[in-house]
Amino acid sequence: MKFLIDLISEQLSGAFEKAGFDAAYGRATLSNRPDLCEYQCNGALAAAKKYHKAPIQIANAVLEALGENEMFASAEAVMPGFLNLKISDEYLAAYLRGMDADAHYGVQNDPDACTIVLDYGGPNVAKPLHVGHLRSAIIGESLKRIYRFFGNHVIGDIHLGDWGLQMGLIMAQLQDEKPGLPYFDPDFTGEYPAEAPFTISELERIYPAASARSKEDEAFAARAHEETFRLQHGERGERALWQHILRVSVEDLKRNYDNLGVSFDVWLGESDAQKYIPQMLETVKAKGLCVESEGALVVPVQEETDAKEVPPCILVKSDGATLYATTDLATIVQREQDYHPQKYMYLTDKRQNLHFEQVFRAARKAGIVPPTTELEHVGFGTMNGSDGKPFKTRDGGVLRLETLISDMTDFVRTKVVENKIVEDSEVEVTTEKIAMAALKYGDLSNQPTKDYNFDMERFAAFEGNTGPYILYTIVRIKSILARYGSWENLPIQEPANEYAKDLMLSVTKLGPTLEQAQKTSSPNLICAYIYELAGCVNKFYHETRILSEEDAQLQAGYIALIGLAKNILESCIDLLGFSAPEKM
Ligand code: ARG
Repeated sequence: MKFLIDLISEQLSGAFEKAGFDAAYGRATLSNRPDLCEYQCNGALAAAKKYHKAPIQIANAVLEALGENEMFASAEAVMPGFLNLKISDEYLAAYLRGMDADAHYGVQNDPDACTIVLDYGGPNVAKPLHVGHLRSAIIGESLKRIYRFFGNHVIGDIHLGDWGLQMGLIMAQLQDEKPGLPYFDPDFTGEYPAEAPFTISELERIYPAASARSKEDEAFAARAHEETFRLQHGERGERALWQHILRVSVEDLKRNYDNLGVSFDVWLGESDAQKYIPQMLETVKAKGLCVESEGALVVPVQEETDAKEVPPCILVKSDGATLYATTDLATIVQREQDYHPQKYMYLTDKRQNLHFEQVFRAARKAGIVPPTTELEHVGFGTMNGSDGKPFKTRDGGVLRLETLISDMTDFVRTKVVENKIVEDSEVEVTTEKIAMAALKYGDLSNQPTKDYNFDMERFAAFEGNTGPYILYTIVRIKSILARYGSWENLPIQEPANEYAKDLMLSVTKLGPTLEQAQKTSSPNLICAYIYELAGCVNKFYHETRILSEEDAQLQAGYIALIGLAKNILESCIDLLGFSAPEKM
């Protein structure tokens, strides 16, 4: 279906043309005087200069050309030359029936839908997941769902950080803590144990300890580098130990992401890109792009139009080590080979902007991606504490994602229990759903690039612009529908009062909102939309007797309308990555 606002514009454009003016002036917008009208067109004001006529004269001529039009309940030309429009009840009801009949509410697939690789999550193996990874997971999951809604083929890749010095650090520390392990014995030729020599909690203790130690103990740091080197050169013992670290870690990560309702199609990582490095370097060298700089191999990527300095992209350091950028370029080679996407999207903290700019430029120069392929870095802001400073635990450490989720869950559980919201047996499920909505909506309602303050109380409030408020609205409608009985096939009727009309007009904004959210990678637009829609539903509910309405016909219309609103709200929160409980 075409968007309502576009249908209105089409009618107006036709009228402008018929009256002898350029059709382009017929663009309609939402009214900025809702007390006077629902839509408006300012085209006559703009046309006045070109046609040397008074705007009101043009507006009147257009109105005349518009004639009796079934789309509008009223159309007026007002000084100095605005066209004020109200949509007809009949037309609006028919439009909503069209939306209601379609699984996607009449929102069509993007004609430019394509294959997209979405690189998000990006956790580092053996290091605990921290809140910095939360945003990547939450925003990425939502974008994946939004792009899929429009018919794109999206491949979500977690792109694990599984190949750096952190591995060597853990190995060097293990060597000291468990000296008898066969992995470090050069004479060992047997089979390595199938069991990992550590648990996930041990691993999580070992990494920070090793990392701190390497800063003070030079000999230890050197050994960690040596271990990393041995791993990267395929030493048998280090490979086997690395497999253990990977397996134990990934198992834990999967559990964490499951809890967050975040899933990936592929679990590749930096290690998987290593075998593409020689090929990638060949390509770059063959193009004559490489320059030697103090023993390192770099690709200059500065462009004349740059206002700021863009340092070269370093591919190989003087000691032969490869870097983050090397891996990212090699990963593009793999992705081209396996998926040949038309678009790449990377979700990380915006502080990685420069890194991606360098990688993208190098990839383009080297022709690793075709010139038409889109490369996009969605850089997001920092999640701060309520003091506006980067989120820290009480003792100043980095807060673990798991702790953050369990804190939020505990906070919500207390409310659920105190307010006796559900039966004992349902407390956990309900709590989890509300906590997830609080956390995700709290994040997603901000424009991704902005920093925001994490505020548990505000995010978990049942009133205001929050996830729980949206859930509460859905649950309220669900309970009315349940009390009414079978409602799924009731047709949408003409609005019975002004609140019904406001709600219906809000429903029609779904398509343009989703389209814009996709185009600009902005789930926050969906949050703002459902907040408005939920507000309209609640207003309608307060102003209208629904269940006690005696006129069965009228009542059926109310029910059909709130049923549609509920379906839309639920579809929207699904695009944000959470769902509503049965009761609240
Ligand atoms: N592991 C990285 C980090 O924690 C994020 C990886 C993002 N993806 C990428 N292709 N570079 O910062």
